[in-house]
Amino acid sequence: MIRFLACALLLIALSSLIVVDSRDIVGDVIRLPSQASRFFRRPGRADDSDGEDDAVGTRWAVLIAGSNGYWNYRHQADVCHAYQLLKQGGLKDENIIVFMYDDIAFDEYNPRPGIIINSPHGADVYAGVPKDYTGEDVTVDNFLAVILGNKTALTGGSGKVVDSGPNDHIFIYYTDHGGPGVLGMPTYPYLYADDLIDVLKKKHASGTYKSLVFYLEACESGSIFEGLLPEGLNIYATTASNAEESSWGTYCPGEYPSPPPEYDTCLGDLYSVAWMEDSDIHNLRSESLRQQYQLVKKRTSNDNSGYGSHVMQYGDLKLSVDNLFLYMGTNPANDNFTFVDDNSLRPSSKAVNQRDADLLHFWDKYRKAPEGSPKKLEAQNQFVEAMTHRMHLDNSIKMIGKLLFGIEKGPEVLKTVRPTGQPLVDDWGCLKTLVRTFETHCGSLSQYGMKHMRSIANMCNAGIRKEQMAEASAQACVTIPPSRWSSLHKGFSA
Ligand SMILES: *[C@@H]1O[C@H](CO)[C@@H](O)[C@H](O)[C@H]1NC(C)=O
Ligand SMILES: *[C@@H]1O[C@H](CO)[C@@H](O)[C@H](O)[C@H]1NC(C)=O
Repeated sequence: MIRFLACALLLIALSSLIVVDSRDIVGDVIRLPSQASRFFRRPGRADDSDGEDDAVGTRWAVLIAGSNGYWNYRHQADVCHAYQLLKQGGLKDENIIVFMYDDIAFDEYNPRPGIIINSPHGADVYAGVPKDYTGEDVTVDNFLAVILGNKTALTGGSGKVVDSGPNDHIFIYYTDHGGPGVLGMPTYPYLYADDLIDVLKKKHASGTYKSLVFYLEACESGSIFEGLLPEGLNIYATTASNAEESSWGTYCPGEYPSPPPEYDTCLGDLYSVAWMEDSDIHNLRSESLRQQYQLVKKRTSNDNSGYGSHVMQYGDLKLSVDNLFLYMGTNPANDNFTFVDDNSLRPSSKAVNQRDADLLHFWDKYRKAPEGSPKKLEAQNQFVEAMTHRMHLDNSIKMIGKLLFGIEKGPEVLKTVRPTGQPLVDDWGCLKTLVRTFETHCGSLSQYGMKHMRSIANMCNAGIRKEQMAEASAQACVTIPPSRWSSLHKGFSA
């Protein structure tokens, strides 16, 4: 019976999952003309000149992977890669603060122990990465305290913070799962958009940076800034997706190019790999944020094949004329590799919806394991457990919607998307309260469940109060399923 159920679930999942060929690889990989970078400098900006770095203050970077678990390999791989890029760009370790759970390099399923790669033929990106905040120290509170430079608010970790001054430039890069208005963490609670925006406003009010660039990869990542990040904070942000679509993993099993055969996990994320592989090869004095945005947008959309997302930009768009050099430095070995607009990075032929990447991993593991082996059984159990959790959440939310708004109106209210420029929810306190109320009765939303944030936000927008949510949740969920995904022992996600 279990076996039958597993097969049925595999079939259901696989039919909705993954990957088609969107196109063949076009042309050769990259064009690299050798032109002197000085032709691309804008006059009158000291920071564009060699040897005058000191005059423009210090470059700071905060890099964070919000997940853990081997099936989420790609997020920590992204962050390690970003570190190597900035290090080669000339940033100092004391100015790069890294958050990663650090459970990938030595996971028993890592085919190359002690090594992490971020592309099929990529070199190791793990060696040398500073372990500032690892394991249970990767928390919302530490992340926000690091941005604010508030050492007394830290718990654990290296104690490194963004101790910046008024002439400094800050780059923040976050990669993980997310949902409308929320970003994942390997610990609870998750990071809500209002708390992040408040901290960015505080940082601005403290006068401790000149400009700040935020690159964000997560599902529905546009919702973190949409209607929330005002102009005038000297912050420029780009996101992997708009406010209502998923973002995409890449270099996944079954894709072309695919990871080496011994890997049964995605190695990177589409938007993340797009900006990093672009920054890796150019003289960054010759490329502006806007040029990179356009190139990354093109690559991440995957020709609007349905296997890609819409990269967005928010905040002070005028900052996008700045060169990447101001935030990332530049690798001296790339001095002769000037950015050109029609640069054609290798487009990805296929991609995997971030939310399905764990299923793909369990499936690939299942497929490759020998018949009757403990590994096969384990992969099958993991798959069934993940699918069961998904169905439980989807059904509970749907049911609560119907209990609150009626059989016909329920589904409509839950999926309503507010017009562009409006935030997800007006009362973030309400959203967090309803999330806790739901979880009390139905179990943890966990990684997958973040996708239902919009439904819960819409309940707030429709005036639903805690007591009504409690009653509906109690009716919809008689018990909390006994799975590790539903377990609340590590806390609420809000
Ligand atoms: C730093 O964090 C502590 C503890 O959360 C808080 O009491 C203090 O006000 C913060 N300092 C600043 C300057 O924000
Ligand atoms: C760039 O080109 C110049 C002139 O050909 C050459 O002298 C220099 O070594 C090159 N720089 C790098 C980093 O390859």
